[in-house]
Amino acid sequence: MAAPDAGRTRYALLGRWYDLVSAEPLYAPGREVAVEMIHVEPGARVLVVGCGTGPDLPALLAAAGPHGVVLGLDASASMLGAARRRAARLGPDRVRLLLADAQRVPAARLRDVLGGPADAVLAPYSLSLMPDWRGAWATALAAARPGARAAVVDTTVARGTLPVRLASRAACALGGVDVAARPWRAVEEELEDVGAATLARGHVEVRAGAVPRRS
Ligand SMILES: C[S@@+](CC[C@H](N)C(=O)[O-])C[C@H]1O[C@@H](n2cnc3c(N)ncnc32)[C@H](O)[C@@H]1O
Repeated sequence: MAAPDAGRTRYALLGRWYDLVSAEPLYAPGREVAVEMIHVEPGARVLVVGCGTGPDLPALLAAAGPHGVVLGLDASASMLGAARRRAARLGPDRVRLLLADAQRVPAARLRDVLGGPADAVLAPYSLSLMPDWRGAWATALAAARPGARAAVVDTTVARGTLPVRLASRAACALGGVDVAARPWRAVEEELEDVGAATLARGHVEVRAGAVPRRS
């Protein structure tokens, strides 16, 4: 189990260094697949849960176009500072950044900041750091419209040889990941039209689906 809210404390000061130490060649493909799977359309409102320094911003803004909006939610002011610097280069008027705990923020606040319900939701490498990841995910979906696409990309211990398993377990421990969380399960359990991808020998899992339309 992760220490209580290890995710929030660990990233408190990492904003300036995260992109240098985050092993992008290993983790970027999972993000890219997840962004493709949420089918962001021009003009979309997109919510990113645990946005960190905003590595998904270029792809999300490109897909959402000049009338789209991306809301990055994160509990670390330092990580959001880096996201703000990135957003300044990409189109600051289309990026909103909210400093809040994803486990506690009300869905109504997310909809307010987005200017309406989210058309797409992305939780990239963040839910497994949260003790109440199910609550955070439920809030993100409550901020989305029925039919919105939502994706989780997250990590656990890889399959394979002992060195591979040990290396992936160490990477998870360094990042504050609870390897037992496997939060992509929530997509499989709750969403419709689910797509899946497994990368890096099972170290990275991606699931995306559609928020059910209430009858
Ligand atoms: C491993 S980093 C991933 C950042 C980014 N999504 C990426 O793909 O590089 C995890 C992020 O989740 C954020 N986080 C952890 N717990 C959180 C919480 N309870 N509420 C909001 N953000 C949280 C951390 O501050 C950090 O920025």
